[in-house]
Amino acid sequence: MSLLQSLLSLSAAGLLMVTSTLNTAAPQHDAEGYLFLVNRQWMVSEAFVPASLREAEVPGSVRRLRPEAAAALEEMFAACLEETGKTLISVSGYRSYGSQKNIYARKLKNVHGDVAKAQEYVAPPGTSEHNTGLVMDVGQKNNPHLNERFRDTEGGIWCRENCWRFGFILRYDEGWEDITGYSFEPWHFRYVGKENAKRIHEANVPLESWLPGYRAEIMLDLLKGTADE
Ligand code: DAL
Ligand code: ZN
Repeated sequence: MSLLQSLLSLSAAGLLMVTSTLNTAAPQHDAEGYLFLVNRQWMVSEAFVPASLREAEVPGSVRRLRPEAAAALEEMFAACLEETGKTLISVSGYRSYGSQKNIYARKLKNVHGDVAKAQEYVAPPGTSEHNTGLVMDVGQKNNPHLNERFRDTEGGIWCRENCWRFGFILRYDEGWEDITGYSFEPWHFRYVGKENAKRIHEANVPLESWLPGYRAEIMLDLLKGTADE
């Protein structure tokens, strides 16, 4: 076999491995993983329900989350109280496909059918990461506004700076609108696990931008592992 043929067959083998890796390890396909990507490009079906949910033991409403995210939220709220004296409240956690459908329909009605306006802040059904059970909209007691004012509250400032310590990221930051598709939401925190949150916080980019590098890393590790065998 010529060198060129050997190289071609090697790269074909590599491609096969990469393809099968993509099919099995790509985070957006792992609905029970912490990096499950849901947005207007990556949707969940109407039948999708997380395997397990529980009520987070925190003040507020709509408190259901996946158990790992609920525990992290409890830890985060307790730390905020201890470090700032401010009580955080849950405003909106897990939403089923059906409840997101109602929220979106209501919003669309309020903006007289202007789809672009409705989608500044509200995801159409199947495209909301609230559907994953990994998201909490957070407010501050006595100041529970889900609007930009939360950014300037003590709780809002603390959450932005510290959420990563508990495995959360601020998902829709200012200046990321073109990538995330949503306006700045200082209240929307997404659980990704502590290690990922630390890395995403340090990278200071939206999840959409961070995931391709992470996937490439997984693939390289797998290829290296195979090469070592
Ligand atoms: N507010 C976010 C984008 C949602 O509706 O999921
Ligand atoms: Zn939200």
